[in-house]
Amino acid sequence: MNTAELIWMNGEFIAWEDAKVHVLTHGLHYGTGVFEGIRAYDTERGTAIFRHQDHLDRLQRSAELYYMPLPYSLAELRDATHELIVRNGLRSCYIRPIVFRGYGPMGLDPLENPVEAAIAVWEWGAYLGEEGKLHGVRAKVSSWQRISPDSLIPHAKASGQYLNSVLAKIEASKAGYEEAILLDHHGNVCEGTGENIFVIRDGAIVTPPHSASILDGVNRRSAMEIARDLGYEVVERDVARAELTLADEIFLTGTAAELTPVRSIDDHELGPPGEITREVQRVFDDALHGRSERYAKWLDVVEVPSKA
Ligand SMILES: Cc1ncc(COP(=O)(O)O)c(C=O)c1O
Repeated sequence: MNTAELIWMNGEFIAWEDAKVHVLTHGLHYGTGVFEGIRAYDTERGTAIFRHQDHLDRLQRSAELYYMPLPYSLAELRDATHELIVRNGLRSCYIRPIVFRGYGPMGLDPLENPVEAAIAVWEWGAYLGEEGKLHGVRAKVSSWQRISPDSLIPHAKASGQYLNSVLAKIEASKAGYEEAILLDHHGNVCEGTGENIFVIRDGAIVTPPHSASILDGVNRRSAMEIARDLGYEVVERDVARAELTLADEIFLTGTAAELTPVRSIDDHELGPPGEITREVQRVFDDALHGRSERYAKWLDVVEVPSKA
């Protein structure tokens, strides 16, 4: 169970067990919420939130795409997050801001329902396991297709949309795999259930483009920048399913999973994490943990208020 002492909800710091909503909350019935997954790391400069502003910007874009005015400014949400981490006494944590349509009229038109906001923080280890980060995970191409722009908004990180990831995740774990890879509505490779994907062949790094229904991952952008800085060519283009099997290396990026190598796809062995994956992963981990001067620009250091 993930817990901390306090949660921030609608402008107030309240006890974890008091962070409750009405059972007729609109978001609970119809998925009308948008959220973020963010991580803060214990660095030499103190607790630092990785690419905080980029996550908050995406939260705002997701809300806008679903006609949800944010009830707080991004600066207010940032400050509340800092204070929440300090008040909970956490040095590193996962951060989950959520903005959702609350209790009100029960029809599908949500525009009269209040927009509520909450932020939770808790300690959370490697999502696909420490073992997975070190040695790679076994993945399976899902029978579920990633949501398409014909019916939902792949660019939004919206609660209801995650039923798609949930189905793919259940299918993969019941079949004994650690992660699912979803194809897009054209049958091209899209992403994992909560991660973007990178495919490496003959020294070139390829990742599916925005038009392949991906979520515009913050860590995808970081990995692309790092790989290019390391001198690799990174190409955004459609990736055919067979390229997964033919790949020399594959890795996933996401806030929860960080950078996790894939060691087999549909039981085709790719082998232990390859050289390029390990090199990008090493620099990426240095960036996350504040060990890199070059990428210090990505850290939002939490200020501990000085005692008066
Ligand atoms: C469906 C999906 N794709 C990709 C990602 C990776 O995004 P990020 O790197 O911003 O965490 C996530 C995680 O937020 C996700 O849920």
